Amino acid sequence: MDKGLFITFEGADGCGKTTQMNLLAEYLKKEGYEVVITREPGAKGLGEKVRDILLNYNGPVSDRCESFLFLADRAQNIDVIVTPAINDGKIVLCDRHIDSTVAYQGYGRGLDIERINMLNNIATNGIKPDLTIVFDIDVKTSMQRVGKEKDRMESAGIEFHNRVRTGYLELAKHFPERIKVVDATDSIENINKKVIEIFKSHN
Ligand code: TYD
Repeated sequence: MDKGLFITFEGADGCGKTTQMNLLAEYLKKEGYEVVITREPGAKGLGEKVRDILLNYNGPVSDRCESFLFLADRAQNIDVIVTPAINDGKIVLCDRHIDSTVAYQGYGRGLDIERINMLNNIATNGIKPDLTIVFDIDVKTSMQRVGKEKDRMESAGIEFHNRVRTGYLELAKHFPERIKVVDATDSIENINKKVIEIFKSHN
């Protein structure tokens, strides 16, 4: 491939997106593609420090500050990892990206979505995922999967997480070409098959 591909994995905490991203990476490598895996928050290097603050800082964090930390991590991920890999013709798989900020800080925290879109655009330099897969799951099941030890974001409450889910489903309605929704309560094998089908039909 001359220019690579950028695929993002989205959904509630505990939806299984990381497992599915790793399974798709294995499949793609077997097919002969060069694959780079990254994540937000917490891309290798500086991002790991930002992730630690975002998930573990236990003093007050304002909603705007939280948004800017996610966006700062995103800018670093795009500049240092995603863009060079895409320019090298690689397939980049990213665990969470722009849609997380719309779903969590927009729908979840209630910040203005238009502003978030604008800030996302600045953080990404206008780079958009070619394909996004949302792993949809009801909040009760996702919280059971997360278990008792919750990080700062996971502790935000049922209503917050219901709004996040609504946010993802609304995003999928707005961008049907880019965003595909998969039922995250199905078996790992079945979901993996669906993800591969989505990848194939997108290329
Ligand atoms: P993640 O590492 O994907 O957690 P998990 O694997 O448990 O789902 O994401 C960390 C948390 O950060 C998650 O609760 C979602 C949240 N988040 C936002 O609120 N906004 C964002 O822009 C991003 C990228 C993540």
